[in-house]
Amino acid sequence: MILDFTTLSPRDAYNWMADAITPRPIAWVSTISAEGKHNLAPFSFFNGITGNPPTLMFSAVANRGGVKKDTVRNIEETREFVVNLVPHVLTEKMNACAALLPHGESEFEAFGIDSASSTRVAPPRVADAPVAFECVLHSIVAVGEGAGAASVFFGRLVAAHVADMVLGADGKIDPALLDTVGRLGGENYVTTRDRFSVKRPDRK
Ligand SMILES: Cc1cc2nc3c(=O)[nH]c(=O)nc-3n(C[C@H](O)[C@H](O)[C@H](O)COP(=O)(O)O)c2cc1C
Repeated sequence: MILDFTTLSPRDAYNWMADAITPRPIAWVSTISAEGKHNLAPFSFFNGITGNPPTLMFSAVANRGGVKKDTVRNIEETREFVVNLVPHVLTEKMNACAALLPHGESEFEAFGIDSASSTRVAPPRVADAPVAFECVLHSIVAVGEGAGAASVFFGRLVAAHVADMVLGADGKIDPALLDTVGRLGGENYVTTRDRFSVKRPDRK
């Protein structure tokens, strides 16, 4: 079957991509507004970009009314954010944060999610996230217009909190201890519990 993306509706185009591009990591993004109100929301169009300089990205699409998400408003206002990773045990709390709360209402408070101070940026982090990347805005790339239009955020990493409990004996992150969840299409998720290794041809 061939899909013609030049004629698909934006909704269908999004769904075909979300069903196919899997599994996706999840950025659980904490931000702060100019008035100092906290916000927390998940985004699975997310990835690392480069270590030089250390940079990551995530994409927020405008909702059906074309309204900007709180995350977008806050980063535009204060230019900082924290990307918290989502372990299996926090899946339900992460999912709850996709609810449409009025602007300025904190998901940390609404859903009983413990926060902790960041060290280099103003937005708090999720206290129980195994890793939290503190980011300063590098740039925003606007893609499209109206409903479904994306704001792609590039963030410069300035610090990361790595929970000691996810470190293996070699001092590195042990994927089994990290136990992150990934996003599939629809309301489906995946764990990293069925792991395997493959030798790289370009490494000794
Ligand atoms: C697992 C998961 C992944 C999501 N990924 C995205 C995404 O990549 N881009 C996006 O715009 N919305 C995504 N959403 C929806 C947002 O989290 C949702 O619109 C949320 O209400 C935005 O919150 P905010 O207005 O507080 O910023 C995702 C939701 C879930 C549960």
